[in-house]
Order: sequence, then structure tokens, then C-alpha cells
Amino acid sequence: MPFLSAALDRVKPSATIAVTDKARALKAAGRNVIGLGAGEPDFDTPANIKLAAIHAIEAGKTKYTAVDGIPELKEAIIGKFQRENGLTYKPNQIIVGTGGKQVLYNALMATINPGDEVIIPAPYWVSYPEMVALAGGEPVSVVCPASSGFKLRAEDLEKAITPKTKWVILCSPSNPTGAAYTRSELKAITDVLVKYPDVWVMTDDMYEHLVYDEFVFTTPAQIEPKLYERTLTVNGVSKAYCMTGWRIGYAGGPAHLIKAMTTIQSQSTSNPSTISQWAAVEALNGPQDFIPANNKMFKERRDLVVSMLNQAKGIECPRPEGAFYVYPSCAGRHRAPGERRRCRRAGFRVRPRAGVPDFVRDENLRSRRRLQAHPALLWKFEIEHFAILKRVRKKACQITSAVERLMFDGLSLEVFGNALFSTWRFLLVRPQSRSSCGDKYQCEFRHSPSPPSR
Ligand SMILES: Cc1ncc(COP(=O)(O)O)c(C=O)c1O
Repeated sequence: MPFLSAALDRVKPSATIAVTDKARALKAAGRNVIGLGAGEPDFDTPANIKLAAIHAIEAGKTKYTAVDGIPELKEAIIGKFQRENGLTYKPNQIIVGTGGKQVLYNALMATINPGDEVIIPAPYWVSYPEMVALAGGEPVSVVCPASSGFKLRAEDLEKAITPKTKWVILCSPSNPTGAAYTRSELKAITDVLVKYPDVWVMTDDMYEHLVYDEFVFTTPAQIEPKLYERTLTVNGVSKAYCMTGWRIGYAGGPAHLIKAMTTIQSQSTSNPSTISQWAAVEALNGPQDFIPANNKMFKERRDLVVSMLNQAKGIECPRPEGAFYVYPSCAGRHRAPGERRRCRRAGFRVRPRAGVPDFVRDENLRSRRRLQAHPALLWKFEIEHFAILKRVRKKACQITSAVERLMFDGLSLEVFGNALFSTWRFLLVRPQSRSSCGDKYQCEFRHSPSPPSR
């Protein structure tokens, strides 16, 4: 009898976490690494939020709470939904979890039966299909090409819906593309969904506050009240409030769904951290002025990175409406005659089997340090491409010295391909010595199966 669960055959470990762990290990080994793995702001949690947590500890608010969250936080969330989204919820329609991730997971575990399909617009956040598969469902990706701004088109959605469709997951602004739906784009989607009463909407609004250029955020239940009864609106404090480590996410939805999600949570983690919940009360009820201030910086970084990437030969980078990701196409870099063949022969795949090919995600907007290293950014795509070819010719050491010659400021490069979606992740490494090959160039390209595409 096998020891491990068959469920593990359906799921891959988090690629984002894997690359983040690798960066952490390199840092622990004394390497000067800038990780481009997990998506988190480089800004610190605002002081008033930290203080609220300290006060909670001092006041002895350190015990278990209700599984689905303290009443004060639920009230703060209800206030947020009303104020910012025009959505009205009662406390029994709100759940607080250990990050948005747990909330999404609870919802899928609470509703998916074997064979249920979940439509996931691609490119997608890598955890969606894995969670669906773990819950026993079938992730169905619908490709949203650059020509449609990486956004789901109404006609493509309608084609993907079958009698087995249980959920459609929407994420705006999106991880990994930064694309965000305008009101009219979202209305076209909700108009389709209204026609299919058995299809539920899971909207991941985690990046709601990170929008630029006067973009106005909207969410499906707000645009189409007919969907209110079958929409789960997921949000959290991780991104806009710079609280990724505090692990607080939440959702508003129909009471029977929230109850089922609470049951799942009650048998796994119980309540999210009490102290973090009190901090989240302050986040939602306290001053919000740091959000536009942070956004101003994110926008400046976005504009810089987009313009630099667009100067690189063969790279095209759309300007995202939100989040802190850019999603440049490297299609132009794959066109050299015989290159694909050479790469294949050397065991590299430069295109994914499914999903949106030829794109790399880059989280350049997250870190000031990364921008300070910006001359290297422009190079890295050149280098990465160059390196593949050189690696094919088995001249890794030459690559390292070539890379070092190219570098403006002594940054070297490590590339880790996670190949989910051909999402290539990069680690920039400052070599101990510019003249030596001590900091070896590394490149791993693995390929993992993507969900079926319609
Ligand atoms: C689209 C999206 N949804 C959900 C999450 C999870 O957020 P949390 O850190 O609150 O669990 C992330 C985190 O990267 C994300 O990018």
C-alpha cells in the first residue's frame, strides 16, 4: 500500500516558493541575491498597523478566536466592501483566513466534486490550477493572448463553459500580467455569466489597490448584482498593506458557501493568527494615505522597467494597468534560424506546451534594489538568451566572463526556469570577484505539464 496520498500525483509544489527558498538558501550562503520569486512589496508594513499588533499582544489578545475571524475584523471588512466596492454583506457572509491563498483553497475544497471544471484565464497565478486539481477538479485554462491585453474575452469564456463548469476564477489586476479589467470589459464577462446560473464566480481582487494611471477598479458582484448570490469576492491585506507575512485574507459571499468554507478551515488551521487579525482591523480602518504614496513609486518603477524592456532587442513589454508585475514577450528572441532545434537538442524547452507562449514574468516593480541595479535589467534578457545558446555549445565558463563583461555594475545572473507557463525566474547575483568565474552561471529549465487548454 503506498504511503503517500494519490492526491499528491495531482499537484506540483509551489514553483514560486521553490525559487524563493533557493534565493533564501543562496543568501544564507553569503551570496548577494535579489530574489524575483514571491510577489511582495518591498515596503515595510505601516507603523500604525505594527503598533496595533503590539497593543494586541500587550492586551492579551493572544488566544484562539472564532474560526472565521473576530467580529471587529469582520465589521472592518464589511465596511471596506461597502465603502470601496458598493457590496453589502452581513457577518455570516464574511470569512477571514490565513492569507488569501487559504481562502481560495477553502472555497475550492468546499465546493469541488470529482470532474467539476474550473475555468482559469491564462496566464494565471500558478496556484489556481494546483488547488483545483488537489480538490479533485479539472482546471481548464482559456488562453488570453497579448492581443486581448491578456484578458478573458466574453466569446472565449462562453466557448469554455460546459455543464461541468463549477467556477470561473477571475483575477484583476492579474498576477502574473498586471492586466486589469475595465468596467466595460468586466461587464461583457458578467453578461455571459448571467446566462449560466450554475456557474459560480471566484474573483481574486488581491491587487485591487495597486492600479495606476487613474484606472478605476471594479469587481464582478458590483457590476452585475444578479451575480451577487453566486460570487465569492476574495481579497486580503497582503499586497496593498504590505502585510504578506501577517497572513490575513478574507472573502465575502453567500452565507451557505462561507459556512462550508468555515467548516474546512475549522478542521485545518482554525482561526488565522489573532494578533494579525487585530493588525488587519487597523489596516482596513486606519489611514490609507500610504497606498497612493506607494503606488506612485510602483508606477515610476513600472514606467522605467517597461521602457527599458522595450529598448531591448526582441523584447516587447505591454504597460500593465496594475499589480507589480510586467509580462514581457520574448517571442522576438526565439526567431533565430535553428535556435529552437538547438535548444531542444540540448534539453531546453523554450516554449510551454500550453498557456501563453513566449512570455516571461518579471517582478521588477517590487524592489528598489532591483531598480538600482537597473542597467543589469536591460541586459538580463539578452544574457539569458545568449546563455542558452552558449550553454548549448557547452561553454559555460565563457558565458560567465561574457556576462561579467556585459555587466555595468558587477551584477551577475542566475536563471531559474520554473517552466510553468514558461515563467522564467531570475536571480541576480553579485559576484565575489568580477574577474573570476567563481560565481558560475546556472540555468535550469524544467517543464511541467500545464492544464488542458480549450
Ligand atoms: C493573485 C494572487 N492571489 C492570491 C495570493 C495570495 O495572497 P496571500 O499572501 O494573502 O495568501 C497571491 C499571492 O501572491 C496572488 O498573487
